[in-house]
Order: sequence, then structure tokens, then C-alpha cells
Amino acid sequence: MIREVLKMGDERLLAKARPVEKFDTPELHELLADMHDTMEHLSGAGLAAPQIGVGLRVVVFGVQNNPRYPQAEDVPYTVLINPDVEPLSQEMEEAWEGCLSVPGLRGVVPRYKSLRYRGFDATGAAIDRVAEGFHARVVQHECDHLDGILYPMRVRDFTRFGFIDALFPNQEIQDD
Ligand code: NI
Repeated sequence: MIREVLKMGDERLLAKARPVEKFDTPELHELLADMHDTMEHLSGAGLAAPQIGVGLRVVVFGVQNNPRYPQAEDVPYTVLINPDVEPLSQEMEEAWEGCLSVPGLRGVVPRYKSLRYRGFDATGAAIDRVAEGFHARVVQHECDHLDGILYPMRVRDFTRFGFIDALFPNQEIQDD
């Protein structure tokens, strides 16, 4: 079911989410199905459970020919529960980000260039991956949501933060 995505300003987006304790339950599968449907419907690159008002440490992400991120490299569709993110170096890189909770806007955000992420899938099976570039960026963005952090809080240079149609007048970037 497509769910309503909370917008920045809603205090539920600022709360620290709690870990999932039971895996492979009907409730968890329903949450994941709703997150998948909502993310697909809005062409998101990812979605965190707090964005639909559920305070659990659950994120989904994945990118393939995404109209909101036409330049982005592919990222496999992933369900990541109770994530742990560990940067593999202190090297940062800057790139544009958007967020379904911050519609119509983009900002340049510094993120760790490469990282290892661990967590669990819906059945409780372990996930352990190394990622870099856009994949690593999406993981950091989504996991930030679990700690109540929205990407504008990470923007350092507000000359590179604004409305999509004003920032990129000649590009077709779909957003709501
Ligand atoms: Ni977001």
C-alpha cells in the first residue's frame, strides 16, 4: 500500500528510531511492502521507515533508471534492517541529494566516499557489504533518517541548496 510520506517539519522525522526485534513477521513484511510501494510510486532512491511514521530501524533503497536521479549509477534494491555503517576512510565527497520528505529541493551534501554496511534482511539473514559513490551516499542518507537527521542538516554550503527548477532550469528532473 502506498503510504503518505511525512515532510520536514514533522517532529516524527526527528526522533531516533528503535531496532527491530522480531524478524520474518507479517507486520514486518507488510511494512516492507508498503515502503517498497511508496518508494516506487514516488521514484525515490530510498525510503526509511520513519518517513512513513514508523519509528523502526528499517530502510529500503535501490536505483535503476530513476527519473529523479537520471545520472545515478545502479544500486541493487535492498532491505536493510538495524543497519550499522562504518566508513572505510575519512575521505568525503560532495554531490547533490534530494529527499522525499523535502520535495522540490536539492542540496550538495558531503558524505563518506566508501563504507561498509551491515544489517539484516526481512528474514533476519545478515547483510554485509562494501559500497562507494552513489550507493554509499544513499546508505548514509537513509540511515541518517533513523537518527532523525535530514540531509539539509548536513548541507555546509547553502549557495548550493535550493529548488530543483531554479537550480537546474534546463534539465528534466522529475520531482513532486
Ligand atoms: Ni530522505
